[in-house]
Amino acid sequence: MNRASVDCIIVAAGSGKRLGAKVPKAFVRLGGRPLFVHSLLTFVAHKAVGSLIVVAPPAMVPQTRRIVNGLCLHKEVTVVPGGEHRWQSVRNGVEASEATWVMIHDSARPFVATAVIDGVLRASRKFDAVIAAIPEVDTIRRFSGDRAGETLDRSAIVRVQTPQLFLRGKLLLAFDAAARLSSPPTDEALLLEASGAAVGISQGDALNFKITTQGDLELAEALWEKRRPGRKKPPRT
Ligand code: C5P
Repeated sequence: MNRASVDCIIVAAGSGKRLGAKVPKAFVRLGGRPLFVHSLLTFVAHKAVGSLIVVAPPAMVPQTRRIVNGLCLHKEVTVVPGGEHRWQSVRNGVEASEATWVMIHDSARPFVATAVIDGVLRASRKFDAVIAAIPEVDTIRRFSGDRAGETLDRSAIVRVQTPQLFLRGKLLLAFDAAARLSSPPTDEALLLEASGAAVGISQGDALNFKITTQGDLELAEALWEKRRPGRKKPPRT
């Protein structure tokens, strides 16, 4: 794989209703910066990533451009408007790229580690698409109303994260098929599988969690504070 032909798309166009903030989730501040900036900086610093595309809520495209310009990054970053559903935002981002591979990342996962990005890139030698995932550790059961049902075999289940890497041409073809579906797809990898492509899994990271609720944001703030450069270590007791 030609390493220079990977673009990164940060999807940041969701409203984040479950977080209940006054601004869209990707613009909520963490450690003094809008949430999407954290993962953007990690991908900009990765040597395999060529250009970057940030998919922003349509009304916030000019503001997102201002934020990105203010960062004075050494790689090209394009800002494009998102769509109503996540897959439409992803498609807008993918259409703005000319790379062979596109790496999609949720802006709501600020703590993506370089090792996770490396793992996804390594696995792409064998697959048309690769998703980062972690093993399920909780017991998983079906339920009906307030009644617990069958317990599922958790050894056969993983929790899917981003980044997810796709051959851009195959993903665009899968999107054409998705546009004809009556209900929106939740997952691009699923779409690609339906078209017969091989989707691989690489090792994710528990700290690469997605911020969805206020509780997740509190966890993220605690983690940010612990990792903050220049933080004074508490005295040993
Ligand atoms: O809503 P959820 O947290 O699952 O969204 C995952 C990611 O997809 C977020 O980073 C969000 O900004 C993005 N998204 C998007 N466009 C949408 C919906 C979600 O870019 N229409």
